[in-house]
Amino acid sequence: MAEECRARECIALLRGLRAVRQFRPEPVPDAVVRDILMVARWSGSANNRQPWEIVVVRDRQTLQALASAEGYAGHLAGAALGMVLVMNGERPEMETFDEGRLSERIMLAAAAYGVGSCIGWFSGAGREQVKGILGIPGERLVRTAISLGYPDEEAQRARPRPAQARKPLAQIVSYERYGQRTASSP
Ligand SMILES: Cc1cc2nc3c(=O)[nH]c(=O)nc-3n(C[C@H](O)[C@H](O)[C@H](O)COP(=O)(O)O)c2cc1C
Repeated sequence: MAEECRARECIALLRGLRAVRQFRPEPVPDAVVRDILMVARWSGSANNRQPWEIVVVRDRQTLQALASAEGYAGHLAGAALGMVLVMNGERPEMETFDEGRLSERIMLAAAAYGVGSCIGWFSGAGREQVKGILGIPGERLVRTAISLGYPDEEAQRARPRPAQARKPLAQIVSYERYGQRTASSP
């Protein structure tokens, strides 16, 4: 029974993860940030290469500058902190996958503490701008930042986004053969 409760709690956390783009001003404690980083550190990666580094940014001016870089990371401006993912830039296919895993773990670890988060992608010249702002060596790949902070529920209610519906299982799952939508019971 205790195990079932634990599973339900974990599943609720996993299933409930949503992008949060509006944050309250209070800081996220260092101990929480450290726990999130420890989870990030243990993310799996192709060949266990761990092709990442993370720049933690709390400075308001730097967050504003990052938010203004070309791309879709404007929500960094109001975040308590941002984590900028710095990838080695050596094996694009593997590293793209690794970066996704790393991002999701950061977001889930944050959610476990009630900290909201959202991915923001830099595009075009934005990637070089971010390297310049943070002093990141030119050969690295910088595509993703994650905004973090306690969700501002009121601001979210005031500016509701359309529900981000999901495709039904019946549309995305096949059994035994592609396109066979029903499972045969054992
Ligand atoms: C690879 C990836 C890139 C994303 N890039 C951005 C982004 O640049 N800016 C942003 O505000 N949200 C970004 N998101 C968040 C998605 O828009 C969001 O996850 C999606 O709309 C579903 O909403 P939900 O996570 O709240 O359910 C990104 C998500 C993923 C997985």
